[in-house]
Amino acid sequence: MRALPVLFLLLLAACATSRPARLYDALGGAHGIERLVDALSAEYHADPVLGPLFADADRDYFKARLREQICAISDGGCEYTGLSMEEAHSGMDLSEAEFNTFVAASRRAMTRADFPIGVQNRLLARLAPMREDVIHQ
Ligand code: HEM
Repeated sequence: MRALPVLFLLLLAACATSRPARLYDALGGAHGIERLVDALSAEYHADPVLGPLFADADRDYFKARLREQICAISDGGCEYTGLSMEEAHSGMDLSEAEFNTFVAASRRAMTRADFPIGVQNRLLARLAPMREDVIHQ
């Protein structure tokens, strides 16, 4: 019987440290991704390097596509209906440095919006493989 409280505490500790398996859930589902994309878009537009690149982009359209894309790559089951990454960034000839600036701005936005560092890392790890399709197009 004395083992019961110990077991209960162990169970509590396991629940407290477990993380949602799906990145989509860790991001807070559709609501969390909406909040995330609002923060990302605001940060990109305000950034001195990225801002001018986004000046002519349709902000609402961009945000809608980014929400779909983040939902899709975080296993939320959405269909991404936008351009391929090569097409979306073609003619921009983005450099490695610009890509790094984009990653840094994404981190700032996620920190400001209170996404835990572990969740930030999980999302950035899924964006990183797209780098080769985005730069030098
Ligand atoms: C893994 C990294 C990236 C992802 C996932 C991403 C995602 C996207 C998406 C979903 C779109 C909209 C596609 C469409 O029009 O259908 C887009 C457009 C755009 N991206 Fe990215 N992007 C990435 C990296 C970058 C970087 C590094 C920059 C700049 C330094 C950038 C600048 C832009 C701009 C300016 C547009 C708007 C183009 C326009 O509509 O005129 N992106 N991106």
